[in-house]
Amino acid sequence: MVDRDRLPGSAGFVRRHAVDADAGIVLAEGGGVTSQQTPRARGRRALRPTFDSGVRPRPLVEGIVLGGRYRVDAPIAEGGMGEVHAAHDLTLDRPVALKVVRPGAAEEERRRFLREAALTASVRHPNVVRVLDFVFIEDVAVLVLERLAGTTLRVRIEHEGALDLERGPRYLDQLLGALAACHQSRVVHRDVKPENLIVVTDPAHASCGAERLVLVDFGLGKPLARHTPLTADGVVVGTPGYYAPEQLLGRPVDERTDIHQFGVTAYEVLTGRRLFERDGAHATMLAVLTSEPPSVCEARPKVPPAVEGVLRHALAKDPEDRWGDVASLRRAWRRAWSLGAC
Ligand SMILES: Nc1ncnc2c1ncn2[C@@H]1O[C@H](COP(=O)(O)OP(=O)(O)O)[C@@H](O)[C@H]1O
Ligand SMILES: [Mg+2]
Repeated sequence: MVDRDRLPGSAGFVRRHAVDADAGIVLAEGGGVTSQQTPRARGRRALRPTFDSGVRPRPLVEGIVLGGRYRVDAPIAEGGMGEVHAAHDLTLDRPVALKVVRPGAAEEERRRFLREAALTASVRHPNVVRVLDFVFIEDVAVLVLERLAGTTLRVRIEHEGALDLERGPRYLDQLLGALAACHQSRVVHRDVKPENLIVVTDPAHASCGAERLVLVDFGLGKPLARHTPLTADGVVVGTPGYYAPEQLLGRPVDERTDIHQFGVTAYEVLTGRRLFERDGAHATMLAVLTSEPPSVCEARPKVPPAVEGVLRHALAKDPEDRWGDVASLRRAWRRAWSLGAC
């Protein structure tokens, strides 16, 4: 999540999601958002909150049924732009995840969200989260995603430290598969990091230990325009430790940007340490721009020496000095680990 900006937990309603965000309350009015028949939800429904304290309402509240179809269950995460909730699709009787932008978000954020939905939907791959729908319900934009029952790599690393050398390299190989699919669909992800990677148990992936790594969050995604000087990256948001030098410098990005981010993520998966994290954003950015990555083999002696070279090539400061595409990187990655395809 971009920041931990807390949303108030008590306001049980959906507010009209428009530029003039204070225009009205729409819970259970007009048929789009209805309350589930629980005492708790009914209690909330009776609430008629006011918006005069600068308090931002939550776009989704446990128990409501959006559009007569999606029952909102527990929250999964909340971030700078919006929230992700577990939900149940009552029509098809299946679990889903709903991602919404917070009511009152700036027009630019809403445009980004639409682009996020379109970019995510344009990539079809087992290691990329699947979009099921994108709907406006009472002006709230709702991205309906397959629900990934699993744990982010961030949580895994926080709990376990470096991953074991069976799983880690295989997860990262799956990440390369996901990135190759993105680039094939002419999409650069630009936000590859452990928070945006979910490991789910999936019997269909029995040959990989039944675990499937899934890339989520195309919020910073961008159509790929290689060698076009007009695609400079603009403002950097969020934690800069995972960004490639060209992103921090506002220079054009392309698939090699994702390759750099893969390198940063891989280093962390294999060592349990954040590669460029320093005290404060400035020091971190300076490290991204100038620090040579320390040896992964010194930090983790059982990592094969060939992996060191593969990662260094991914982490070159100048995109021209990196792997030119994910396919060559993936071939080298598999050779270095003696991985078969799975
Ligand atoms: N389809 C999904 N199924 C389950 N959890 C998800 C799904 N998509 C996202 N999440 C969880 O929600 C968190 C935030 O989602 P993300 O798309 O990364 O939003 P943000 O743009 O706020 O970072 C993720 O880190 C992950 O833990
Ligand atoms: Mg995210």
